[in-house]
Amino acid sequence: MLILAIETSCDDTAVAVLRDERDILSNVVASQLTHREFGGVVPEIASRQHLRFLLPVLRAALQRAHVTPETLDAVAATNGPGLLGSLLVGLSLGKAYALGLGIPFVGVHHIEGHILANSLVQPIQFPCVVLVISGGHTQIIHMPRMGAYEELGSTRDDAAGEAFDKIGKMLGIPYPAGPVFEQLAKRGNPQAVLFTRAKLRNGAFDFSFSGLKTAARRKFEAAGLTLQLRLGSLSHEARRKAEPHPKRLHQDRTPEQLEALPREAFDILASAQEAIVDMLSTKFVAAVQQTAVQHVYLAGGVAANEALRVRLAGLMETIGCELHYPPARFCTDNAVMIASAAYFRLRAGQLSELDTNAFARGALQTWA
Ligand code: KG4
Ligand code: ZN
Repeated sequence: MLILAIETSCDDTAVAVLRDERDILSNVVASQLTHREFGGVVPEIASRQHLRFLLPVLRAALQRAHVTPETLDAVAATNGPGLLGSLLVGLSLGKAYALGLGIPFVGVHHIEGHILANSLVQPIQFPCVVLVISGGHTQIIHMPRMGAYEELGSTRDDAAGEAFDKIGKMLGIPYPAGPVFEQLAKRGNPQAVLFTRAKLRNGAFDFSFSGLKTAARRKFEAAGLTLQLRLGSLSHEARRKAEPHPKRLHQDRTPEQLEALPREAFDILASAQEAIVDMLSTKFVAAVQQTAVQHVYLAGGVAANEALRVRLAGLMETIGCELHYPPARFCTDNAVMIASAAYFRLRAGQLSELDTNAFARGALQTWA
């Protein structure tokens, strides 16, 4: 079965061609770097960029896969959750492409894609528990079988990736901060600052990262490390450009400036990462022990974090569980994961109608 999949839920324009379960014929991702000057994704700009990038990315995906549209068996596209304007670009093209070719269309939940990226390595073993950690989601999900999702816990405020991004941004690490954050944290002492771990009364497996964010800001401020950019300090021209777009005031540090930061900066980063890894691991291990599964999986962009992988691999081994995760390039947003989810949906007869709409928010639903 040959599937073409499209992912445009946030700021990556991605198209992939997958044959059956894990024969990846092509995987093209165009990342929108233009958001960096704003320090985060600007939805209106994201959808316009998708419009510009999508057709060239689709053509490249077909070319690299050495397939023609007529040989495709199905088209898939992410239909939510995400930025509505961005989702609509990929979803509309996906539905039109399927209609034009007279083949089935499958709308895929973005988080289902992240989870099923795990089957690109080897078949997922059920029952299992998945820790979903991305820029927009942090959830612990029990999967008794393919297509069945039971949420055991989730975040009360920020997502894990958001915590990395927001704390990184305070120091001027370009968006998304995760990968550079992790590299810089390697140079610091994770025990230097003992950040308080959030304790939640109800919801034993829920997370909270907002307190850590505030605590990290205080540490950066006390050490004089936060970026201070005041309108008054700008030239007339720079001020005129910035004023209608206050967010444009955001300026990142260059790689050289980041490297040259004092030791204290790396210590705070390392300690903040340690707190995030610790909070994620403690809750995940507790949830896994309650379900008594033998296989556990990571999914989403933060699953690329080496410190988290190492910590969890050790902890899971002590409780007799095997930890699995996708290769780093399939942890962050891509379209192969959407194709993977579509493959299992197609096999289960879970096709979508052509009036399928995009949705900004919505939990993963167990297949009907
Ligand atoms: O899954 P993803 O690509 O997009 C969403 O669906 O949100 O996740 C992106 C998130 C960002 O917050 C990014 O900073 C984070 O994943 N991330 C990392 C790492 N690589 C990406 N966080 C920590 N360590 C990393 N190595
Ligand atoms: Zn994602």
